[in-house]
Amino acid sequence: MYKNKKIAAIIAAAGSGSRMGGSAPKQYLDICGKAMVVKTAGIFSKCSHIDCIIVVADAGHCEKCEELLQKNGINAIIAVGGERRQDSVYEGLKKLPLDTDYVLIHDAARPFAAVRLIEEALEAVLAKKAVVCAVPVKDTIRMMTGRERSVTTDRSLMYAVQTPQAFEKRLIVDSYEQAYREGFVGTDDAALAERAGYPVHIIAGSYDNIKITTRGDMPAATETRVGTGFDAHAFAAGRKLFLGGIEIPYEKGLAGHSDADVLLHAVMDALLGAAGCGDIGGHFPDSDERYKGISSLALLEKVAGIIKSKGYSVGNIDAVVIAERPKISGYRLEMSKTAAKALGVSEDKINIKGTTTENMGFIGRGEGIAAHAVCTLIKSGLV
Ligand code: CTP
Ligand code: MG
Repeated sequence: MYKNKKIAAIIAAAGSGSRMGGSAPKQYLDICGKAMVVKTAGIFSKCSHIDCIIVVADAGHCEKCEELLQKNGINAIIAVGGERRQDSVYEGLKKLPLDTDYVLIHDAARPFAAVRLIEEALEAVLAKKAVVCAVPVKDTIRMMTGRERSVTTDRSLMYAVQTPQAFEKRLIVDSYEQAYREGFVGTDDAALAERAGYPVHIIAGSYDNIKITTRGDMPAATETRVGTGFDAHAFAAGRKLFLGGIEIPYEKGLAGHSDADVLLHAVMDALLGAAGCGDIGGHFPDSDERYKGISSLALLEKVAGIIKSKGYSVGNIDAVVIAERPKISGYRLEMSKTAAKALGVSEDKINIKGTTTENMGFIGRGEGIAAHAVCTLIKSGLV
């Protein structure tokens, strides 16, 4: 309720996201850890004035959408959308509770709308009956006047229209019915109201309230995480030396339960750390016979699966092998290539280098090898 009026919100989430591309519509992309439609509906569910939320989903995603909303504690009625945004909103309007006084219409593709914006739209709609949020355009707009002719417009008069758009219920239902009677198609709700003869009032929107349309709009929603890993192993006679997933000719190898690939161990710990998934000791304990003598490349493949299941992809990995001998510079590229293959990423994402400790300490005395790795993981994929 807002000032004793019943308020409903319709969230249009039935588009196909063709300009974004991808295997699922953009409203199911991850925005800061939540599916976009959940993030957007969550703004309305947080707003205490909203009595009813209607989410319009496309027929193929209704169940998934309902499940995601429920899982996140958002109560919403689901409507099945249509071919164009206008058709979807119309389906939402048909589900409005009878006692609704005012309706807010919002795009699921605008997950950064502020509760304050919703409240301002509500305050304005009580007086003005039809309200849109809009911001002054930043670019100068040219308008085509013929096939090859265009004119500069007066930028100070131009506004980019956003959602939410707020209407008296009777007014917007009447406008939609009229549009359908007359076969009119508009790009937003205000266009239909205006065509039906109702004046539309602008209130200040926000430049943060962007509509996520193409891949380029997603970085704002990307999460980057950093991880670090360190490992050291002592030399042991009679073992092969594995570093970075390859065998390096040397007079001895490293002691360990697995193949003792100290470099891949540091890399795996960095990856698991960045994903918030503990460490290799926890995932592949040396008390477990299954991991005795196992290739660390096989473990790296498992780690790749773990971080992928969490929705992360590798940003980059930088690792250093600390050894007095053998010299690893000649093997760096082969190591990057081998590790990249196991992780399913391109080689340029992995940088491996070597250093010594100038004969100091256990490494300087030739007692073993250590490795240190840092990585970034990126989350912007599908939920
Ligand atoms: N929308 C809808 N039903 C449609 C088309 C669009 O509910 N048939 C919704 C979208 O889900 C989005 C909002 O309307 O939240 C704004 O539309 P737009 O940004 O154009 O999204 P899409 O139509 O999904 O994207 P595209 O135009 O690139 O295909
Ligand atoms: Mg569209």
